[in-house]
Amino acid sequence: MLVGLVSTLSLASVALALSPSYNSCPAQPRNVALKNNTHLPDPFTFEDGQKVKTKQQWQCRREELKSLFEEYELGTLPGPPEHLSASLNASNLTITAATNGATISFSVNITLPTTGKAPFPAVIAFDGLSIPVPSNVATIVFAVSAFGVQNDPSSRDVGTFYDLFGHNATASALMAWAWGVGRIIDALEITPSAKINTKKLAVTGCSRNGKGALVAGAFNDRIALTIPQESGSGGTSCWRISDAMLRDNQSTQTASEIVGENVWESLSFDQFANDTDLLPFDHHELLGLVAPRGLIVIDNSDYLWLGPESSWGCTGAARLIYSALGVTDNIGLSNVANHSHCAFPMARELPDLMAFYDKFLLNQPANTDIFYAVPNITLTVGDLAYWANWKVPKLS
Ligand SMILES: *[C@@H]1O[C@H](CO)[C@@H](O)[C@H](O)[C@H]1NC(C)=O
Ligand SMILES: *[C@@H]1O[C@H](CO)[C@@H](O)[C@H](O)[C@H]1NC(C)=O
Ligand SMILES: *[C@@H]1O[C@H](CO)[C@@H](O)[C@H](O)[C@H]1NC(C)=O
Ligand SMILES: *[C@@H]1O[C@H](CO)[C@@H](O)[C@H](O)[C@H]1NC(C)=O
Ligand SMILES: *[C@@H]1O[C@H](CO)[C@@H](O)[C@H](O)[C@H]1NC(C)=O
Ligand SMILES: *[C@@H]1O[C@H](CO)[C@@H](O)[C@H](O)[C@H]1NC(C)=O
Ligand SMILES: *[C@@H]1O[C@H](CO)[C@@H](O)[C@H](O)[C@H]1NC(C)=O
Ligand SMILES: *[C@@H]1O[C@H](CO)[C@@H](O)[C@H](O)[C@H]1NC(C)=O
Ligand SMILES: *[C@@H]1O[C@H](CO)[C@@H](O)[C@H](O)[C@H]1NC(C)=O
Repeated sequence: MLVGLVSTLSLASVALALSPSYNSCPAQPRNVALKNNTHLPDPFTFEDGQKVKTKQQWQCRREELKSLFEEYELGTLPGPPEHLSASLNASNLTITAATNGATISFSVNITLPTTGKAPFPAVIAFDGLSIPVPSNVATIVFAVSAFGVQNDPSSRDVGTFYDLFGHNATASALMAWAWGVGRIIDALEITPSAKINTKKLAVTGCSRNGKGALVAGAFNDRIALTIPQESGSGGTSCWRISDAMLRDNQSTQTASEIVGENVWESLSFDQFANDTDLLPFDHHELLGLVAPRGLIVIDNSDYLWLGPESSWGCTGAARLIYSALGVTDNIGLSNVANHSHCAFPMARELPDLMAFYDKFLLNQPANTDIFYAVPNITLTVGDLAYWANWKVPKLS
């Protein structure tokens, strides 16, 4: 029996060198003078006032935005651990990470597809899957709620991630999960017997886990396709537009509410809870961090709490970033009502999702020019030109 077990077991272990820091961009200040901006901030202007004119400069602006999101909303994303090893036992991939004398282990469950050819593309699903996955794509379930607990404010700094980094880590739960996704990819890269193609990975989650899926896609360049489902505020909605909805008496989750509900943001975000106009960014830029990689936003306008109008405007503004990079169709939005929260309306939305799987995981030609809501959404406060009151350059 032991022999049988050993034959399905593969062990791999490497010491990962710390990756070199990004050094081709000018050093960006983390603390910036906060300005009152009632529109969505201009993605194409650096904090020092210089304009982004080239794709290369966008990469530097992207680094600047990542720093700002770490500083003011999500907490610091640590680098890779000093040591990482992985062991696969049937469908159970156990990852061990050690750094600064502390060690943690966590496991993900890999379900290989029934058709197709190894190595397989895969969808990393936060706390389980709530969208369909093609029969030739694997599923990897990451139990995020144990990795960075998300019950209520008392979950601050609780979970496997904090066992490694200490309970003074600034990372919010969403950032803790993003770090975990990086380690899952590291582990898959050194475990060929897991049969996963690490160049063809998607990340998804619904509702609170959709907020996390967006952050994981934004901060992990090795994710090819990001699929936030019904993620709302803290996800694909913009803080400013959600505040405008609430002022319009539409009962929507806002920064002011979210800081008291859970630990999805870092404590440094509290100062903006009642003053989102002071944030040096908004979530159109979090979505924009995913560019030029694939991103499909799946929404549900029946749930006002999610701010479907805010997500519509926010994702519309993010699409301008994709346009500037010449890849407008790499971002999509599909919003269909008349179903319960996190239930996927197959008949209407499967073709939208399949188009993104085809293009970004399966190397199949597909039309991903998808940006619609049924029923249609019209912004009740401002329009896209109001919120995105900046010029969209054609980046060379
Ligand atoms: C592999 O998993 C099986 C089933 O959960 C378990 O019985 C076995 O002890 C595991 N083997 C190792 C080496 O962990
Ligand atoms: C996966 O393996 C780890 C390490 O052996 C073990 O602690 C964990 O219980 C396993 N998970 C499942 C679901 O079998
Ligand atoms: C992985 O998920 C599959 C499908 O849900 C389940 O049958 C299996 O028991 C799980 N394995 C582990 C190790 O959790
Ligand atoms: C966390 O911060 C507190 C207060 O500054 C300090 O007393 C404590 O030693 C720190 N703990 C760790 C593990 O760094
Ligand atoms: C929102 O509701 C309050 C209280 O009913 C009312 O005074 C206010 O005019 C309403 N605002 C809008 C924009 O409808
Ligand atoms: C926001 O304002 C409300 C009402 O004035 C106040 O109760 C709350 O503490 C403020 N929130 C933060 C995080 O400052
Ligand atoms: C920003 O400016 C607007 C419009 O003038 C004003 O209503 C709002 O209170 C200001 N916000 C802050 C945080 O100063
Ligand atoms: C939602 O369902 C209702 C009742 O069945 C129907 O009248 C309405 O047209 C549907 N709306 C959409 C957008 O499908
Ligand atoms: C809904 O929007 C589409 C374009 O996105 C447009 O073709 C259609 O006429 C709109 N329908 C309504 C009822 O406004």
